[in-house]
Amino acid sequence: MTRHLITSAIPYINGIKHLGNLIGSQLPADLYARYQRARGNEVLFLCATDEHGTPAELAAAKAGKPVAEYCAEMHDVQARIADGFRMSFDHFGRSSSAENHKLTQHFAGKLQDAGLIREVSDKQIYSNTDGRFLPDRYVEGTCPNCDYDKARGDQCENCTKQLDPTDLVNPRSAISGSTDLEVRETKHLFLRQSTMRDQLDAWIESKKDWPILTTSIARKWLRDGDGLRDRGITRDLDWGIPVKNGDADWPEMEGKVFYVWFDAPIEYIACAGEWAAANGEDDAAWERWWRTDKGAEDVTYTQFMGKDNVPFHTLSFPATILGSGEPWKMVDHLKSFNFLNYDGGQFSTSQGRGVFMDQALDLLPPDYWRWWLLSHCPENSDSEFTWENFQQSTNKDLADVLGNFVSRVTKFCRSKFSEAVPEGGEYGAEEHNLITDLQVRLERYQDHMDAIEVRKAAAELRGIWVAGNEYLQTTAPWTTFKTDPDQAAAQIRLALNLIGFYANLSAPFIPDAAKSLLETMHIDAFEWPKHVAAALSILEVGHAFDVPEVLFAKISDEDTAAWQERFSGTREPAK
Ligand code: MF3
Ligand code: ZN
Repeated sequence: MTRHLITSAIPYINGIKHLGNLIGSQLPADLYARYQRARGNEVLFLCATDEHGTPAELAAAKAGKPVAEYCAEMHDVQARIADGFRMSFDHFGRSSSAENHKLTQHFAGKLQDAGLIREVSDKQIYSNTDGRFLPDRYVEGTCPNCDYDKARGDQCENCTKQLDPTDLVNPRSAISGSTDLEVRETKHLFLRQSTMRDQLDAWIESKKDWPILTTSIARKWLRDGDGLRDRGITRDLDWGIPVKNGDADWPEMEGKVFYVWFDAPIEYIACAGEWAAANGEDDAAWERWWRTDKGAEDVTYTQFMGKDNVPFHTLSFPATILGSGEPWKMVDHLKSFNFLNYDGGQFSTSQGRGVFMDQALDLLPPDYWRWWLLSHCPENSDSEFTWENFQQSTNKDLADVLGNFVSRVTKFCRSKFSEAVPEGGEYGAEEHNLITDLQVRLERYQDHMDAIEVRKAAAELRGIWVAGNEYLQTTAPWTTFKTDPDQAAAQIRLALNLIGFYANLSAPFIPDAAKSLLETMHIDAFEWPKHVAAALSILEVGHAFDVPEVLFAKISDEDTAAWQERFSGTREPAK
């Protein structure tokens, strides 16, 4: 048994995420967590909401609510929707938790002790109209790198370059639109991450099995020098984690908070503390996942995120952890994703373009979305959601291949034998060939899942479903039955066993359907198959089953056309 710590990038609290966000981190993380659990391994799977910073404040202001109240409400909304997609988090925490306050202040103190914090008098944009400082996204303007005119003060959405508000050309206030801005001096803490370049470089180069996407982004940021510029880790804001040195006040930093990107990744750790507390456990329970001096040395830690998040996870967060000088668990595998596009353009939260998670669940059960998104995930390049592709793929894979197999086999058995595994002949050459083929496929499927090659794993699973259909086509038990009912019984016995086999292998992708397949077959619990031959002999003669209702209804042309139309514009801004 191995131990897997798995985290998904924690979604910003402001508003409901779209399908591109879902496939960029939470969904593949859930696939991997479910797979590792199914293999009998110990898993701690964590996610949370990212609640600080200007996005949260701006959204709360727009909703006309105090920010703490807004965050509490949106956390519940996001938790419910994650549940709707069957995210199997062990805990869905909050970066505003007491645990994260404590831990973030702890890290700042350790970094200060290590001489890695510089106090500087920094130039920040002050808005005379708004009567306040405008950090990060409170300023918008033109990107100095690509000329995009809606770049935000922390990062350009168009070219992903990280920015400082003072880098923007023609800056304006995101609150009032005012251009009556000036640059004022204010004291801030900077993390001296530039001093850690060699250490981070060596660490990144030691990660031989990271996906190319991850390593190339990390290297680019490291070597360009841009990503390792010393960065301000404090802000002139009310909402956030107060700047403290451990438990002690930090002189001249009253009224300031830590920068959201400083405290957000620390929430990965704090969330484990929240999980332990929620389960009435002590610190030792979560420290065995996170402290290499307290049991985490045999943990494999895998992070999931979109490519825009890679610099923070390969440079800034490791700088925080390494800089503390304490034995925290560092990430082992970092799986990053490209972007999913929507129907000829980009998904966009700010513009409300595309299908959002709550809307998707209103249309169809989660398995449809899970299957399409995972099997088309933007793994090696950006990929695109179109309604036509969605309809075709799900109808074919889920209804025609998997659903149809189950329905044909169970109905045929009921009509010619009974609703129980029929008595009859032995498995012959066709059956043994299938078993041999499936054994190879099973191992290939596991290899892809172990390597988190999501598309390859989906393709192999589809191949495993198709193999069952082809077996049915070639052996044609309905024809066999006319001349040799015993042999037909053996063929159907194998096919019924295949349904249980499919339920087990498919569960990480389509957990609801997998569960109903088990129920249909009257199988009590999931059990990952080791040897296909044994797995296909589990259901014995006389074992009862039910003929299921339609497992996956087909998506009609009318629905597809209506949905395409309905989601062609932009969504009303979230209330
Ligand atoms: N909230 C960020 C985003 O959605 C991700 C934060 S991940 C963590 O892009 F590192 F901060 F945890
Ligand atoms: Zn740009």
